[in-house]
Amino acid sequence: QGKVFTFDPGFTSTAACESTITYIDGDKGELLHRGYPIDQLAEKSHYLEVCYLLLYGELPTAAQLEDFEHRVTNHTMLHEQMMNFFRGFRRDAHPMAVMVGVVGAMSAFYHDSTDINDEWQREVASIRLIAKMPTIAAMAYKYTIGQPFVYPRNDLDYASNFLRMCFAVPAEDYVVDPILSRAMDRIFTLHADHEQNASTSTVRLASSSGANPFACIAAGIACLWGPAHGGANQACLEMLEEIGTVDRIPEYIARAKDKEDPFRLMGFGHRVYKNFDPRAKVMKQSADEVLELLGVENNPKLQVAKALEEAALNDPYFAEKKLFPNVDFYSGIILEAMGFPTSMFTPIFALSRTVGWISQWKEMLVDPTQKIGRPRQLYTGEPFRDYTDVENR
Ligand code: SDX
Repeated sequence: QGKVFTFDPGFTSTAACESTITYIDGDKGELLHRGYPIDQLAEKSHYLEVCYLLLYGELPTAAQLEDFEHRVTNHTMLHEQMMNFFRGFRRDAHPMAVMVGVVGAMSAFYHDSTDINDEWQREVASIRLIAKMPTIAAMAYKYTIGQPFVYPRNDLDYASNFLRMCFAVPAEDYVVDPILSRAMDRIFTLHADHEQNASTSTVRLASSSGANPFACIAAGIACLWGPAHGGANQACLEMLEEIGTVDRIPEYIARAKDKEDPFRLMGFGHRVYKNFDPRAKVMKQSADEVLELLGVENNPKLQVAKALEEAALNDPYFAEKKLFPNVDFYSGIILEAMGFPTSMFTPIFALSRTVGWISQWKEMLVDPTQKIGRPRQLYTGEPFRDYTDVENR
């Protein structure tokens, strides 16, 4: 609405920046991507179209979208030698550990030919990362469950390709369920970008030194893994499993309010939203739809989640601290109903967020005034003092 933001020109760290990509109003619970509200994009658009919007600033024409989808589809395969990286991991490695390693290793396969100061080469790196992340995430999953890799197919849309790479086995045909594909695509869209969150700020800070995009995205994946950030979707489902039944909710509400207890309600609260996370609203609707369509609407975790949400929203503590469900509160319930183990929840968040990280990486690099990030500190340590020889200590 023509809002103008002014920044302290002396503010040198990349922790604060100007961006035209995503706008969040934490008090209103509003999220816009290039001006378009997230609930409309989730309902009317689809992930690759949202990728185009985030990358280039406008919704594509039909021809532009067809060309973009063709370019992404034709970059979904990995260099065959990269398969060796997966086999270096322990069988029980967390898929996020595999993703950090393999995406970082892309520097050795693709960065040698990427001049980040060349717009076309930045474009190629962007398409490669968006295209290959589902393949990497799916292969990380297959490796950790001891099943053979399933290669991408060019006749499938982005979400269907990912589902097939995760769930198909050579022993039988796999037909993608359109319900799952639509739900998967919507989850990708809801996680695509979110302004200057911790992992995006990590990518920006790494990029500010001129590091290659693959290494910068690997840094973002590492940061996203934490349970306070992208790891919350896995932690939230594990919390719902631990609570188990509705009658145990008061015990956990009390623990969340107890300052002596480190327990926090996973999937609740946010650094910016002091109102409902608009993505959580869409995710809750989607959970109801998907679980009903899959015939598991009586999933006990969904019942516990809804009862927990109601108990927290009616508790003065959470109202006073403005704690509401965030994007991670319902996503895990949908993903589990779709057949994913909890260990795959954050890898799915990471592959969805790759377009947000890459869009903000590109935005930084086209700014000629951009300097290396250098957050400052408030020193509270010892004042100046002379060295003391060990015999005098
Ligand atoms: C994501 O930044 C982004 O945009 C991130 C993200 C994205 O798309 O990139 O939106 C994705 O990371 C969502 C958040 C997922 N994390 C969780 O669900 C983990 C559980 N939530 C919390 O750990 C917490 O809410 C944070 C980390 C998200 C925010 O923590 P803060 O910065 O401490 O939140 P706050 O300052 O608003 O907290 C206010 C008070 C504090 O108590 P006091 O110090 O005032 O006494 O509320 C308390 C907090 O201790 N509090 C909680 C709580 N979250 C905050 N108490 C119980 N349960 C919680 N979940």
